Amino acid sequence: MAQLLIKNCGQLVTLAPLATEKRYIRITPDDLGVIAHGWLAIADGKIQDMGGGAIPERFERWPQLDARGALVTPGLIDCHTHPIFGGDRTHEFAMRLSGSTYQEIAARGGGIKYSIRSTRAADDHQLMQKCLSQLWVFLRNGVTTVEAKTGYGQSVAEELRLLRVLRQVGAASPQTVVVTCLALHDLPTDIPDKSSYVQAMRDELLPELARTGLADWVDAFVEDGYFSVADAESFAQKALSLGLKLRVHADEFNDSGAAFAAARWGAASADHVQAASDTGIRAMAEAGTVAVLLPGTSFYTKIAYAKASRYRDADCPIAVASDFNPGSCFIGNLPFAASLAALYCGMSAAEALVAVTWNAARALRLEEHKGAFMPGYDADVVVHGVNSVEQWIAHFGQTKPKEVVIGGMRLT
Ligand code: NIG
Ligand code: FE
Repeated sequence: MAQLLIKNCGQLVTLAPLATEKRYIRITPDDLGVIAHGWLAIADGKIQDMGGGAIPERFERWPQLDARGALVTPGLIDCHTHPIFGGDRTHEFAMRLSGSTYQEIAARGGGIKYSIRSTRAADDHQLMQKCLSQLWVFLRNGVTTVEAKTGYGQSVAEELRLLRVLRQVGAASPQTVVVTCLALHDLPTDIPDKSSYVQAMRDELLPELARTGLADWVDAFVEDGYFSVADAESFAQKALSLGLKLRVHADEFNDSGAAFAAARWGAASADHVQAASDTGIRAMAEAGTVAVLLPGTSFYTKIAYAKASRYRDADCPIAVASDFNPGSCFIGNLPFAASLAALYCGMSAAEALVAVTWNAARALRLEEHKGAFMPGYDADVVVHGVNSVEQWIAHFGQTKPKEVVIGGMRLT
């Protein structure tokens, strides 16, 4: 039996109060379930026990990892990333420095359309190597579970190719990789007709996803200038009828009713949501749809930040993710996104930490075995490079973890 005892944890954040109650709202510092001078016992990849003070005799001979007073938390969960793409959009960053907006660049054939062209031009091996090296960057920042979206294929064959590569990435990476098919992202330049595109995705791609199980989730970018609620409606209904699970890019720039539709479709999350209406937010709270805030994108593209108070006051669960992608957020640093969420979305340090662990697990429906330290949960652990939650949020993701453990295995 593989065993590991992590000792001398200055603050051991268990999140056990939330996991015990299966609660995702009304987060207070007490919900972190902090054990001072803590220890954590891991056996066969699972959390076996935890506590504070003297180490019980039965664990004394186990292999030990000395945290030397550091903050120790459950592995971070990045529940929204776009890490599989070819090419490079550095030139767009330069255009933005000269005053163009993200949407102006997109309107000129750049943005997602540019990445579709360069992704199609890359072979499987190139895509896999590039994606794996990006996941390693996430890992060095403490991310043990990654939700990875396609969306730069945008034809039935290309989306299926990206899904297959992502499954290979998942098999080769130590992290848990949750795969999402972002089938409605942007119209490729070779298909001018939106309705025939949606039809092909709905009638050809979705049944193939249901048949093969290549995607854990299905996503759509529901936004003015991309896909409207009406465009996405039959696609979402078909996905649901096939037993596929939905998450939605919703109301990032304008309120197009996407948050409300996401709730109506029973989506697990509605992401971005800066411009969601109060009605949309209320519907999300009622449906248990998690609001995934992506402040790195606001920082990178200089657009509005989502206001956490609107979600908090409505009792809507909040997660935070990186949105790492080639154009609107080339930032693969989830702790940095958490600090941005605290400063600019208005979250407490406790809320921000919960947003990248327990609530992110909920957004991916992994809360039965990830996102907290509970006996039997997966032993995904970060021994941080800081000593407290307060220091973690203040250091803006610049101080790297000392150790990352996934399924009980030390990786760094
Ligand atoms: O989440 N909003 C839609 N998709 C990505 C951006 C993708 C891109 O610019 O390539 C996002 O920000
Ligand atoms: Fe995104």
